[in-house]
Amino acid sequence: MSIAVSTNNNIFLLSTDSTSYAFGIDDRGLVRHLYWGKKIASADELEIPELTEVSTNDPVFEITPEEYPVHGGLRYKESCLKAAFADGTRELVYSFCSYDIENGDGYEELILHLRDERYEFFIDLHYKLYPDYDLMERSAEIKNQSEEPVMIEKFYSAQLHIPYDGLNFSNVHGHWGAEQQRFVQKVSYGKITIENRRGISSHNHNPYFVLDRDAAETTGEVFFGALRMSGNFSGVVEQTPYGETLVQMGLNPHDCLLELAPGQSLVSPAVICGYSDSGFETMSHNLHRFALERVMRKGLRPVLYNSWEATEFNVNSRDQIKLAEQAGELGAELFVLDDGWFGERHSTQNGLGDWYVNEGKFPNGLEELIDAVKAQGMMFGIWVEPEMVNPKSRLYQEHPDWIYHYETRVTDTSRVQYVLNVTKPEVREFIYDMLDNLLTRYDIDYIKWDANRPISQTGPQRDIWYKHIMTVYEVVTELKKKHPDVLFEACASGGGRIDYGILGIFDDFWTSDNTDAFDRLYIQDAYSRIHPIKGMRAWVTDCPNFLSGRVIPLTFRFHSAMMGSLGIGCNILKFTEEEKELSKEMIRQYKEIRPIIQEGVFYRLDNPSPNPYFLYEYLKDDSGVIFAFLPQSKVGHRGTRVRLRGLDSQALYTLRLKDGDITKSGGYLMNRGIDLKLNGDYASAVIKFEKSS
Ligand code: GLA
Repeated sequence: MSIAVSTNNNIFLLSTDSTSYAFGIDDRGLVRHLYWGKKIASADELEIPELTEVSTNDPVFEITPEEYPVHGGLRYKESCLKAAFADGTRELVYSFCSYDIENGDGYEELILHLRDERYEFFIDLHYKLYPDYDLMERSAEIKNQSEEPVMIEKFYSAQLHIPYDGLNFSNVHGHWGAEQQRFVQKVSYGKITIENRRGISSHNHNPYFVLDRDAAETTGEVFFGALRMSGNFSGVVEQTPYGETLVQMGLNPHDCLLELAPGQSLVSPAVICGYSDSGFETMSHNLHRFALERVMRKGLRPVLYNSWEATEFNVNSRDQIKLAEQAGELGAELFVLDDGWFGERHSTQNGLGDWYVNEGKFPNGLEELIDAVKAQGMMFGIWVEPEMVNPKSRLYQEHPDWIYHYETRVTDTSRVQYVLNVTKPEVREFIYDMLDNLLTRYDIDYIKWDANRPISQTGPQRDIWYKHIMTVYEVVTELKKKHPDVLFEACASGGGRIDYGILGIFDDFWTSDNTDAFDRLYIQDAYSRIHPIKGMRAWVTDCPNFLSGRVIPLTFRFHSAMMGSLGIGCNILKFTEEEKELSKEMIRQYKEIRPIIQEGVFYRLDNPSPNPYFLYEYLKDDSGVIFAFLPQSKVGHRGTRVRLRGLDSQALYTLRLKDGDITKSGGYLMNRGIDLKLNGDYASAVIKFEKSS
């Protein structure tokens, strides 16, 4: 039982295998947070403290930790919910009514029912426990059962309380071509806000929080949560003057107003949260395992070839067939035709929205290419950007009113395109039908769904920030019902939609348009903290890299991309014989270790060397792989020591080193470790190992 209620029925203790979370209902019906941390045994040991104010300027609502503070009364800190009733009242006054415990899929869920004192307005707080993952999913549902609409000005999913100040907050910052740049900052007085206001989730920040007390990879306390939202989100971290740190996450209230019509209800995106007293590694492991086992589509991801960097818009059947044949020969399992195959799409300037096959480029139809791909035994994938339209397109000429716009203003273009108002039923239908027809007519196994610009000129509706992304989720979910075997890749100008909202609806992420193998090491490391390895698409591309101008050996480029779901984006028609042979061998090796990479346990290993080694381990059952990278050495004569993790200390493991196998005990490998020295610029190694007894 993960949910325990105290004998006098007012304290709830929610437990996972090693953590506990508790709150109580006080005599006013307020839901008051009591505890979050390491596991404790009994709800009866917890008490609800008396509410006392510090002074008349520090009212009790400010001091007491509430599970879901609403806007109203003497509350001045961030609230989770702000509503305006039809009569002009802009205050919520809730109290607890009752609770239910549900157990639909084998995991218990507690639902607290709160109601407004005066209006037929209800708030349900959901707490779903995943004991074996040490995770809890929190969300809120609001219901308007009055006769009048209620306007929702702010709707967050949860408030979480951490009983310390002076924490470290970490997240990622970035932009196109430089996503997932990890940063850590000290939390002090005042607030930290992370958010996106552009309509997508993750170029600039990522919808999660990680707060630690000077934790390291395997030590220290970490409190974390990931929000299931791929549109505008925000998260606020606030160290209060009363000795605790608050975190809230949910829909970004910026420019957002949601109408809840009579009889309507609305569920917030969930936050998947957890606590670790053994550092960031436990956080990553719990989230990764949860994502793999409970969120993502099962099965290994195919080795992909994507022709974008090779041909850009210059696509035609003949060249794509040549690329497909070569990709097949190298060992790719999926060929993806990127932008440029449709309408009059010859550059970013035109054609977007006209989803018919360009006859000039494909005189014998798309079937010719698909047949050639299938003849190689490969799957076929195709790029679409369904939410967008170029001004120069048939679609826009026919439906100028389908885009977000104001009648009296010029609509901004970005990448020479407008955003379609997908919340209009006719636009949504158009998108669904277009994709349904494409998937019905052609033998397509994979859709790369892109979104290359922010939303602007949203029109009078201030709910589109929420409704737009919900429509995207719904369309893909519906398409998958009809075409259950098709895989969907979430791309938004590179890594603009990497989050737990899209995960599960889509099947993998395009991590970044930055395909430089060295830059990728940072991007991948930061990505791995929260998101599962299987979802991380990584390509080997040509050098000099189009973005960094850097030249990196092919082996290092492969090794870097082999850390996730491998893809190749080179112009393979220009490969030398040597490059072809090397690529074949690398792809062969990847396939061998793929289950360990995509479904194993991932470790960010310590590097004790003054040289900047990047060291990682993947472990699945009795087999493992070590990845080591040394982009450049600073102290020429120094190697590093690789200490593995997660092994059985009594068992023996055989490591396949370049100079021959060695067999050592798990205890030796985890404590003493092996010495490793890489030489030269952009040196890398992949070392396989397995348990030998
Ligand atoms: C975006 C994507 C790229 C590619 C281009 C095509 O930038 O991130 O991978 O698909 O669009 O226009």
